[in-house]
Amino acid sequence: MLFSLEPKSRREDLFNFNYELTNLTNALRGSGRLIAITGLRRTGKTSLMRVALNESGIHYLYIDVRLSIYANYGDLVNLIAKSLNDFIFKRTSMPGKVRDALRGLNGIEVSLNPPGIRVRFRGKGKLSIGDLFVRLNEIGEPIIVAFDEAQELRRVNWLRFDRLFAYIYDNLPNVKLLVSGSQFSLLYDFLGLNNPRSPLFGRAYLEVRTRRLSPDEALDFLERGFSEVRVNCPRDLMRRAVDAFDGIIGWLTYFGYSYSVNNMRDFDEILRAASSLALEELRSLISALRSSRYIIILRTLAQGPAPWRVIRYRLEDHEGRSINPATVSQLLGTLIRLGVIEEKGGEYAISDPVYRLAAGQL
Ligand SMILES: Nc1ncnc2c1ncn2[C@@H]1O[C@H](COP(=O)(O)OP(=O)(O)OP(=O)(O)O)[C@@H](O)[C@H]1O
Ligand SMILES: [Mg+2]
Repeated sequence: MLFSLEPKSRREDLFNFNYELTNLTNALRGSGRLIAITGLRRTGKTSLMRVALNESGIHYLYIDVRLSIYANYGDLVNLIAKSLNDFIFKRTSMPGKVRDALRGLNGIEVSLNPPGIRVRFRGKGKLSIGDLFVRLNEIGEPIIVAFDEAQELRRVNWLRFDRLFAYIYDNLPNVKLLVSGSQFSLLYDFLGLNNPRSPLFGRAYLEVRTRRLSPDEALDFLERGFSEVRVNCPRDLMRRAVDAFDGIIGWLTYFGYSYSVNNMRDFDEILRAASSLALEELRSLISALRSSRYIIILRTLAQGPAPWRVIRYRLEDHEGRSINPATVSQLLGTLIRLGVIEEKGGEYAISDPVYRLAAGQL
């Protein structure tokens, strides 16, 4: 169903994005070792990733790094165990081979009855994530390891993932890495592909970007979605949604779902609900940044795009003293890296219209 809220996994639930899907599926089947999916929040990265993984016909592990709040060892190993369970017992046509490859690996127990994998993450016999990848390589068939929202791995301080990735890239030819990120600058900083001091420096990679839908595509998406659930939505309301959500497919889905499944018929009410969701996300992003200056910037940009100098005035007004230009640029740079704002034609703007609404309430 087009309007279902969870990320899509099946081709028939994926609206458009044929170009992106073909690119990604070809990349997964090709010889490239590292593939990145980047794009703003809610533009369909996870959906594209899942559908392409299913379509590729190649074995894969899928690990959603965002689930892990503390990023401690047990947390991450549990995520990996979950993905291994999915892999061995649900998807693979070669459970025997995988079990053989994992046999004797410290910290992993494979049981058949009931089917499942148990992973030890404490003490001497704990699982080494590096060894696990070596064993996956030894299965002798290509396997993709997908890290959704991989920039979160930068918070893991007990394992240098960039080094592990470089090791996999250089030495484990059967293991292909797929990573996604909404905070693409953070993702690229974490991977260090352009940083001469980092282990992955200079390696070739492929990038697939998700995008906003055009207004025509957005309208088409809503029409098809409503016709699929057999709900009548007035055309002018659909047009309002197309205007308000600026082609971000996640918000269009949210609108369609709220209207048809939750029976919310008042557009402003749906928009308010979306914006409180966005407000929560925005608050948790900036609370991690620990500076009220971000709030001033976002409140300023909630009123519309603004040039650097206006943002500086607002900050100075608020603090009643002058602020170093470099500091202003640094603050803006951080928000850009988080994917919250963008710079276009000399002005800064909040990328997502619902975030823009939410920012007015900060
Ligand atoms: N091509 C598509 N067709 C139909 N629905 C889609 C499509 N792409 C995304 N969606 C819907 O949009 C929402 C966001 O999608 P998804 O989670 O895949 O995006 P994302 O970029 O991974 O988001 P986030 O940045 O929050 O992780 C979900 O409700 C999903 O079902
Ligand atoms: Mg996602």
